[in-house]
Amino acid sequence: MCGIVGYVGPRPSQDILLSGLARLEYRGYDSAGIAVIDGDGQLGLRKRAGKLKVLRDDLVDHPLADGTTGIGHTRWATHGGPTDANAHPHLADEDRLAVIHNGIIENFAELKAELVAEGFTFRSETDTEVAAVLLGREYRATGDLVTAFRAVASRLEGAFTLLAMHRDEPGLVVGARRNSPLVIGLGEGENFLGSDVAAFVEHTRSALAIGQDEIVAITPAGVTVTDFHGEPVEVEPFEVVWDAAAAEKGGWSSFMAKEVSEEPEAVANTVRGRIRDGEVVIPELDGLDSLFAGITRVIVIACGTAAYAGMVGKYALEQWARIPVDVELAHEFRYRDPVIGPDTLVVSISQSGETMDTLMAVKYAREQGARTLSICNTQGATIPRESDAIVYTHAGPEVAVASTKAFVAQITALYLLGLHIGRIRGTLSPADSARSVAELEAVPGKISWVLEKEQAHIAQFSHWMADTQSVLFLGRHVGYPIALEGALKLKEISYIHAEGFAAGELKHGPIALIEPGQPVFVIVPSPRESAELHKKVVSNIQEIRARGARVIAVAEEGDAAVLPFADEVLRIPLAGPLFEPLLAVVPLHIFAMGLATAKGLDVDQPRNLAKSVTVE
Ligand code: M6R
Repeated sequence: MCGIVGYVGPRPSQDILLSGLARLEYRGYDSAGIAVIDGDGQLGLRKRAGKLKVLRDDLVDHPLADGTTGIGHTRWATHGGPTDANAHPHLADEDRLAVIHNGIIENFAELKAELVAEGFTFRSETDTEVAAVLLGREYRATGDLVTAFRAVASRLEGAFTLLAMHRDEPGLVVGARRNSPLVIGLGEGENFLGSDVAAFVEHTRSALAIGQDEIVAITPAGVTVTDFHGEPVEVEPFEVVWDAAAAEKGGWSSFMAKEVSEEPEAVANTVRGRIRDGEVVIPELDGLDSLFAGITRVIVIACGTAAYAGMVGKYALEQWARIPVDVELAHEFRYRDPVIGPDTLVVSISQSGETMDTLMAVKYAREQGARTLSICNTQGATIPRESDAIVYTHAGPEVAVASTKAFVAQITALYLLGLHIGRIRGTLSPADSARSVAELEAVPGKISWVLEKEQAHIAQFSHWMADTQSVLFLGRHVGYPIALEGALKLKEISYIHAEGFAAGELKHGPIALIEPGQPVFVIVPSPRESAELHKKVVSNIQEIRARGARVIAVAEEGDAAVLPFADEVLRIPLAGPLFEPLLAVVPLHIFAMGLATAKGLDVDQPRNLAKSVTVE
């Protein structure tokens, strides 16, 4: 939540800041602002409520003097509504100092009271301005931005990434982080700071990831990183594996449309390089077999769509590795005093690698002695850095707030992990392993089939449903999390009531919701491989049909049993039961996008949301 960018170098910074903010806008889009130290050493500021476009237009109408040192921010409001005054940057020290912030400063009220008592005044309702004023006070005392930062950072409680620059020290941007993201981009005679690499990837792919409780100072000549006590620390260099074009819309109507179209590649790229002679070999886990030795259970922690990926993965892990798996929402896990220890493997799943609830749950698990493994899509992110092991998904940058290609990549990574652990534990025969590997390798082609054959049909049909007020989703077994995912996607971008249910639960209450015309999506298991379940789901369809539901079945090609009872059938290719979710979810993603588009909504930036939820 909130996107942050900083620049120092020889070039005028405004365009660099604005294009960085455009790439980070998915992190928050309530307001945006930039501050620049211009050629005369003056600090200029412009900030506006609304999306980045409002700020851009304002800068066109009323240009701001440019300069080569600057910071920029795009906000998801926490303290104080989305107004011009609450937008970042915030100024202090008689408007010579500018500060931007991501996170929540939990002790801001007491710090503010201290500052008010000393006579300081405030222009916004934000916690950020408190940090800015505190920094201004320390700067007055020390005359050195890095030293002032150290004093302030150690007084702040909560989660924060803070960037600041001072008129009296042009050519310097200082940042600090605790439990909130910040990465460094290394250029030639110029350097960058960003919430993630998207902020600077068009300028450099050479990056440094900094750790918790560290302070970074960038100048055109170099980068210095210390801890909050001023001790130098080692930083981890990495090369960004994707280029700027990967995070461009590239002719698509929306990032979401582009990302749905990339679902086949997301799976293929996540599998690539991890199969040898028909067996799963995950290079990142080389030499880490001991991580899995003696574990008696696995707990998967995640939020939202990532948690649904975990629910799908549970079936595969239990089947292949014969180990009990629980899936928990990260924010619930941490606060219920879970019984975990060294025999527990906690697997976190996060596209961004920055979700605060998941990060805190991982930290908690480690403190309790559990082993931790992170499934993550973002290099340099915090959650993998806080974990004992990482398995990256290779979905490429996901920009639309609604997660789509990352979801199929997360399931893929969990399947690879399940096959890996199954092999280590000796619970999976080579033949079964080879069969599953072959199924997994066939998934990208099958997703492409769904996109080619069904996309136009679903898009048209979602337009007919533009006035629908409520949609229900039903599934059993691995189809259940897919029903939850279908409902979440619809709520998130279409703003209509949608709920997912386990089909077997219907008669225990939800069937009362069915009235004539109620649209219900049903994820139908394969009649070939899950005959028993298939019969049960067809019975569920009949039950809701009898009460007037309008049934939209997502069913395997050739499944004729659903035809008499379904108003619409969305076809998916044949696959083994564990692989169906990777196919069945695609029509639901297309449907949610189609319905939101038909309602004239912004599918990439739905209201009230942000891509990366970095507050608890
Ligand atoms: O970055 P993460 O995977 O940790 O994000 C978790 C959820 O916030 C995320 O999946 C959210 O539910 C999506 N916007 C759903 O489309």
